[in-house]
Amino acid sequence: MTIALDSPNSLESASRLFQHGRQTLVLDDCLDWLRAAPSNSISAVVTDPPYGLVEYQPDQQQKLRAGRGGIWRIPPSFDGSSRRPLPRFTVLSANDRQAVTVFFREWATALIRVARPGAHVFIAGNPLVGPLVSTAMEASGFERRGEIVRLVRTFRGGDRPKGAEDEFKSVSSMPRSCWEPWGLYRKPIDQPTVAANLRVWGTGGLRRLSEKTPFLDVIESGVTPARERSLAPHPSVKPQAFLRQIVRAALPLGTGVVLDPFAGCATTLAACEALGVQGIGIEIDEHYFRLAARAIPKLAAL
Ligand SMILES: C[S@@+](CC[C@H](N)C(=O)[O-])C[C@H]1O[C@@H](n2cnc3c(N)ncnc32)[C@H](O)[C@@H]1O
Repeated sequence: MTIALDSPNSLESASRLFQHGRQTLVLDDCLDWLRAAPSNSISAVVTDPPYGLVEYQPDQQQKLRAGRGGIWRIPPSFDGSSRRPLPRFTVLSANDRQAVTVFFREWATALIRVARPGAHVFIAGNPLVGPLVSTAMEASGFERRGEIVRLVRTFRGGDRPKGAEDEFKSVSSMPRSCWEPWGLYRKPIDQPTVAANLRVWGTGGLRRLSEKTPFLDVIESGVTPARERSLAPHPSVKPQAFLRQIVRAALPLGTGVVLDPFAGCATTLAACEALGVQGIGIEIDEHYFRLAARAIPKLAAL
């Protein structure tokens, strides 16, 4: 199915659209895009949203790109390892929690109209924000269906108390993260059974690994390989090996349209292209939109 995205005739819309194979990337705010998209048009969502809600604002991105100041923590070499920039996530204030809840309530309300009945939504998270997103998704009408555990050892957490590392050598202020939660939601089916929903909409279930083995909710995953990071230089880039497993599971019959409303370097679209399925990505930041346009064909070919 092809989805009408924008007037294809104006120069402005051409510069906001990138197409490669079965993939369409749009430079836009996903809330605006979702409000204009046709109802019941998306078969699955695979996405990795911004959580601080400020770290992807233009001023913070300028600071990150300049390597100075802002919310992006660029710690010195520490404990023998040097790190890539990470936004801070060790504490969420009541205001932060409220902002995340309000944003995801608005987002999920716009999304549920566009998703087909039975469409699954996979959302990358972390242990601090996961419950807030869950509350917003359920309040907007999605069903919580579980959580995928991506087994990955990141550099998040595990630090000694800031400014007193020597004084409290044997203390960490929070656990070092060894897994990443991906919330799994579904728009309720509108047919009497999953089988009937699959026949009508092609959605409602998850694709099995094989006829004998169902899709599993724990997935072994390394950090994103250096080669992929160099092709898609985004601070939150996700690995193809993991995303391809998620995209494959998200389309139970192997066809349909996958949406990534927070596309970044369009790693979800690259996974869709590698699997031969249609993907739509929305990215608000022009710098990442341009990087993504270059990255999709290269990542898909890996
Ligand atoms: C965590 S990153 C996603 C990175 C992606 N997983 C990858 O592998 O490249 C979130 C992205 O969402 C974008 N973003 C933030 N707010 C947005 C909005 N309202 N609409 C569309 N994109 C948005 C940010 O610019 C950022 O690139």
